Amino acid sequence: MNFRSDNEAPVAEPIMHALLEANQGFAESYGYDEYTQHLTERLTDLFEHWLEVIPLVTGTAANALAIAQTTPPYGAVYCHQSAHLNKDECGAPEFYSGGAKLEDLPGELGKLDAETLHTALAATGAHGEHENLPCCLSLTQSTESGTVYSIDEITALTRVAKQPQWHLACHMDGSRFANALVHLGCTPAEMTWKAGIDLLSLGATKNGAMLAEALVIFDPAYATEIRRRRKRAGQLVSKMRFVSAQMLAWLDDDLWLQLASHANALAAGFYQQMQAKVEFLFPVQANEAFLRLPEAVIAQLQEAGFAFHVWPGSTDVIRLVFSHATKPADCAQLVAHLNRLLP
Ligand SMILES: Cc1ncc(COP(=O)(O)O)c(C=O)c1O
Repeated sequence: MNFRSDNEAPVAEPIMHALLEANQGFAESYGYDEYTQHLTERLTDLFEHWLEVIPLVTGTAANALAIAQTTPPYGAVYCHQSAHLNKDECGAPEFYSGGAKLEDLPGELGKLDAETLHTALAATGAHGEHENLPCCLSLTQSTESGTVYSIDEITALTRVAKQPQWHLACHMDGSRFANALVHLGCTPAEMTWKAGIDLLSLGATKNGAMLAEALVIFDPAYATEIRRRRKRAGQLVSKMRFVSAQMLAWLDDDLWLQLASHANALAAGFYQQMQAKVEFLFPVQANEAFLRLPEAVIAQLQEAGFAFHVWPGSTDVIRLVFSHATKPADCAQLVAHLNRLLP
């Protein structure tokens, strides 16, 4: 009964099969294989736009490369306080960029808002060369709080970011991109470049792949020498066919949307069944739920065999993550236990 992380979920069967199929014989290395070529075509069709695809094996590498491509060592990146790249990447964006500064901003429900961004950017400039140059906006979709930016919210933020006096690159950390996409019911194009996004960290690992992420760049201006940068960062996977084959299988027959829909539906069902009894910290819009519970109840759930994270810095907030492999029966057990334990 694992609600700890979608990273702990198994690999979806079709992706495992695709790996076995890709394992027939020899194939060119370093991305010159037919799977990787095909992936670029597949994603170009899907996103309805020119793009450069950089297959990778961690989301951190995708984020850090995106920051390095857009932000020089003297630059600044605007992100939410809770952003993974701010809290959980051990300084990789700063390291890859050669020392750029992360400007972490507050925002309700785990989201940045256009006004806060505007105020922060408007306050820059007075110190001239003494301060970092605003270079990049990074949004996480779905957010670290399990919420989802609407298209209008993304567009409002990128409009501010792209005002001529700032002209920031706009990056999206889409580690849980599919979960956000099925929540909004929009197209990948609508949630990215049409809304002003220039670079996307597209994550498949949390949504059924073994290890498959990609940096997707929509603006050629941010693609310059990305391949050399990837190599220099130690992120050029020699047997890339196995990364690309995973991502192709993930996209085939809308598997990625089915897997994300399963996870989201279980999270939404849990929310609907428990919202009258339990305090949820954020609306449940993707595949994560944050709830406040008495510490004794948390301990009893753990004793009963439910695995989840007690949120760092608190003793009474837990995070539940619903994955493509979460069983409805486990969710039903969790609801039954909570109903028993709570008055
Ligand atoms: C929002 C977000 N972005 C990026 C990552 C980074 O992924 P990885 O652990 O593969 O580096 C994670 C992982 O948990 C995440 O939750």
